Amino acid sequence: MFPTHRPRRLRANAQLRRMVQETTVTAKDLIYPLFAVPGDAIAKEVVSMPGVYQLSVDKIVEEAKEVYDLGIPSIILFGIPEDKDAEATGAWHDCGIVQKAATAVKEAVPDLVVIADTCLCEYTPHGHCGYLEVGDLSGKVLNDPTLELLKKTAVSQAQAGVDIIAPSGMMDGFVTTIRQGLDEAGFPDIPILSYAAKYSSAYYGPFRDAAESAPQFGDRRTYQMDPANGTEALKEVALDIAEGADMLMVKPALAYMDIIWRVKEMTNLPVAAYNVSGEYSMVKAAALNGWIDEKKVTLETLTSFKRSGADLILTYHAKDAVRWLDE
Ligand code: PBG
Ligand code: ZN
Repeated sequence: MFPTHRPRRLRANAQLRRMVQETTVTAKDLIYPLFAVPGDAIAKEVVSMPGVYQLSVDKIVEEAKEVYDLGIPSIILFGIPEDKDAEATGAWHDCGIVQKAATAVKEAVPDLVVIADTCLCEYTPHGHCGYLEVGDLSGKVLNDPTLELLKKTAVSQAQAGVDIIAPSGMMDGFVTTIRQGLDEAGFPDIPILSYAAKYSSAYYGPFRDAAESAPQFGDRRTYQMDPANGTEALKEVALDIAEGADMLMVKPALAYMDIIWRVKEMTNLPVAAYNVSGEYSMVKAAALNGWIDEKKVTLETLTSFKRSGADLILTYHAKDAVRWLDE
């Protein structure tokens, strides 16, 4: 009790504070998302995400080099295809945009770990994460037919040189099906980073501008999780572990730090947190107004994700954060 205990003793100066600091964020904890578009020399800023661009493959390669030189070990690729169709052909075709980008990046920067988001929403005209009965306007995604398309997508991404497959569509059994597909196609060593606990969140709004993947009708509540549920996340995670996931993701991050913590407590697999588009846009908007200190808020948030149990953080702030950490 006071006055014997004075916690302030260990906060008295910068070196003492450094010595007792429990959590640090470093470049190696970060994964940088990139959006690939067809064309050449294209860098189109996403209006709702200042500092984030849709990039043609040549620009993706430049960006990949920069990311690698900053010491960030990994990128995650999303694609905006030329055409969208019911079978999501653009997701699994050899000449798909993510396949092209991955091959180009691996050729230019072989040591950069390339993750592919494995989902159908960017590639279907309706913008849902799976296959719908033709003519269905209710948005009821058919689970098992979707699995076959996800398997094809994952295999073709692996063939293009992708290092990690990250299925994000919250279909039941997607880890089993993708694992089987990868093994049969000769990729037993490609890990799966499962978006295991992904919530149906309004924080994805700006991403849907970036990826041009907003559902054209209905919403994603029949496959993504209800934000009110915490215990259910542990069920999703347990299933994905049983199905052979190598890493697990919680998404979004900021409003779901309790979930990050609970997932970390229950598993010994690496846990990733996705610091999503809406979280990024809020910081950017407030910073542009001069209302918050962007650098301090960003580093505090990233540190808090790690303190909550995240081993890895997917974040649009990655490049800025590393520059600030190096200062
Ligand atoms: C698609 C996907 C989404 C995000 C990553 N993959 C959007 C969604 O589910 O609507 C969101 C990322 C972000 O908001 O930054 N399955
Ligand atoms: Zn999707």
